Amino acid sequence: MKQTMTSDSQRPKVPKRVRNHVNPLGDLQEHSFEGFTNSNPIIVDIGSYRGEFIEALVAHFGIDKNFIACEIRKPYAKYLDELFLKDENVVVFDGDTGRNFEAIIKPSQDKGVLIQYVFINFPDPWFKDRHKKRRVINPKFLQATAQWIDSETTFVFQTDQEQLFRDTQELLDQENIKYKEFDKPLWGAQTYWEIMKIEEGDSIYRMSFTF
Ligand SMILES: C[S@@+](CC[C@H](N)C(=O)[O-])C[C@H]1O[C@@H](n2cnc3c(N)ncnc32)[C@H](O)[C@@H]1O
Repeated sequence: MKQTMTSDSQRPKVPKRVRNHVNPLGDLQEHSFEGFTNSNPIIVDIGSYRGEFIEALVAHFGIDKNFIACEIRKPYAKYLDELFLKDENVVVFDGDTGRNFEAIIKPSQDKGVLIQYVFINFPDPWFKDRHKKRRVINPKFLQATAQWIDSETTFVFQTDQEQLFRDTQELLDQENIKYKEFDKPLWGAQTYWEIMKIEEGDSIYRMSFTF
């Protein structure tokens, strides 16, 4: 698969001054989304960063799927807005996805649209105990999502952080959510972080789960 469809000269300017760590709980931005104008399956990417992963999926699926890119860091969300301006099957939301997930996704599901995949790729690990609640996959998120998400929706969690991976498995066990580990990226689509970590010689941990 060709990973980067947009040449560097065509890319929006990458924001230079972005804080590395943002407290997601501090972002009170609220969004909702009534859905796309067609009923194609939706793929969600939480923490899209500079959009390389969605670009790879758009290259792979074309207009047969719709995509929702979520990015908490506003300068990157703005960058993504520009990057996907011409793609009618891609929408971008800033803010904390944990806060907005149901309002962004459920209206489409209620209309009978399949939310096919939700990707959580290389999320910020938040290792300190007092910061763990900031993780995208946390007990509150799982318990709230379990109330409404369709069992057809596959969540994909990928990371280079083994401790985060094991902690997340423990959490899924506690919530009685079954997961399956797997080896290779789906459709060969690698994220920016994944490519960087593999180049540094790190292992990648991957699992999928459904509610
Ligand atoms: C380590 S980077 C990984 C980026 C990309 N997924 C990849 O694999 O290349 C984590 C990304 O998630 C974003 N992020 C962190 N917490 C978030 C949240 N609560 N909602 C949406 N995005 C979030 C960060 O701003 C950052 O862009």
